[in-house]
Amino acid sequence: MNAVVYQGPHEVAVEEVDEPEIEHPNDVVIDITTTCICGSDLHMYEGRTDAEPGIVFGHENMGIVTEVGEAVSTLEEGDRIVLPFNVACGFCRNCENGKTGFCTNVNPGFAGGAYGYVAMGPYRGGQAEQLRVPYADFNALKLPEGDEHEDSFSLLADIFPTGWHGTRLANLEPGESIAIYGAGPVGTMAAYSAKLQGASDIYIVDRVPSRLDLAEEHCDAHPINFEENDPVEQIKDAHGGGVDKGVDAVGYQAIDSDKEADDDYDPARENPAIVLNNLIQTVRPTGQLGIVGLYVPSDPGAPDEMAAEGRLGIDFGKLFEKGQKLGTGQCDVKQYNRRLRDMIIEGRADPSFYVSHRESLGDAPEMYERFDNREEGVTKVLLEP
Ligand SMILES: NC(=O)c1ccc[n+]([C@@H]2O[C@H](COP(=O)([O-])OP(=O)(O)OC[C@H]3O[C@@H](n4cnc5c(N)ncnc54)[C@H](O)[C@@H]3O)[C@@H](O)[C@H]2O)c1
Ligand SMILES: [Zn+2]
Ligand SMILES: [Zn+2]
Repeated sequence: MNAVVYQGPHEVAVEEVDEPEIEHPNDVVIDITTTCICGSDLHMYEGRTDAEPGIVFGHENMGIVTEVGEAVSTLEEGDRIVLPFNVACGFCRNCENGKTGFCTNVNPGFAGGAYGYVAMGPYRGGQAEQLRVPYADFNALKLPEGDEHEDSFSLLADIFPTGWHGTRLANLEPGESIAIYGAGPVGTMAAYSAKLQGASDIYIVDRVPSRLDLAEEHCDAHPINFEENDPVEQIKDAHGGGVDKGVDAVGYQAIDSDKEADDDYDPARENPAIVLNNLIQTVRPTGQLGIVGLYVPSDPGAPDEMAAEGRLGIDFGKLFEKGQKLGTGQCDVKQYNRRLRDMIIEGRADPSFYVSHRESLGDAPEMYERFDNREEGVTKVLLEP
């Protein structure tokens, strides 16, 4: 079968790989119907992780069950399912507590597993024609038959729950104000989640106009362009003492508008602590920050030696002085995906407004490049084998 295989920095290819098989009685195999490219894939794509060539990408997967292991009890051939990007066992201490992003059984020596991601275990990605799903009873979320809501349901694998998670890590309450850094897929889903949860003022910060426009139109968010003016000042001008809550949906490859380079995406323009420090300034004393943007313990392309080891210059004194709390980490997708699915089915949520492209798997190399360039209008790319 065909799959998207990492070749090295800025290069993926669609190559023939072995078809997946049932390896354990708890597995199922699915035919992929939709698999998405994620901002998280771009860290690997750009060579900014320890990912080695040969890895099959794809952690946002949905499809139809074609083979069922003999110990699987709740799924059968023909079922339409979406998988959390996390691979989880369901019975370790963290899974029991709902922290499925930190499962201690699926990736020995590490808390957390995922499909097609460096350091996240031996699970092949789903940017392919088929996918093996381990611990299938636990990991699969069943969907209504047919192909209705295919775009929205595909976003249940990661970005809709992860955006929601950002607001939960920040403990957003109805009527509170919130600032979200990043209007990519995750940040816009955080803004959409904030709207669904009854936030008052929602600010969203980015520099890509088409992304800010979508967040303004669909999430009623105030767009803030950080290349035009200091985003902290812009938000504080509009919102006196700072907002109640904040979300980081950018991560360690954040751009610093004070740094110059010929290419807008030159790593020389990055400052891995800037969004954290902006948030500490933007959020009011005793406010809370939800950090879902990715931070890594090792970055081969880091702007300085400390950042190469994941050590950042964070204004911790200011955070302490303001008595702020923060929450971090991978989203525990299973905590939210069932309820978000039901909101989609009932017509209360329709996150598909952020999907800009549905392309064939063979177009992955071109679409990776365009999404990586944050080309105007290329907001979320779905692939169809
Ligand atoms: N915690 C999780 O479970 C989880 C899940 C999915 C993605 N992520 C991470 O979330 C982050 C966002 O993912 P995405 O898919 O939306 O990716 P993305 O890269 O498309 O979006 C990031 C956006 O941030 C903007 N940006 C860059 N510098 C900025 C700055 N200084 N201030 C404000 N905005 C800035 C970019 O223009 C871009 O639009 C990535 O780091 C990704 O790895 C985490
Ligand atoms: Zn993702
Ligand atoms: Zn577990």
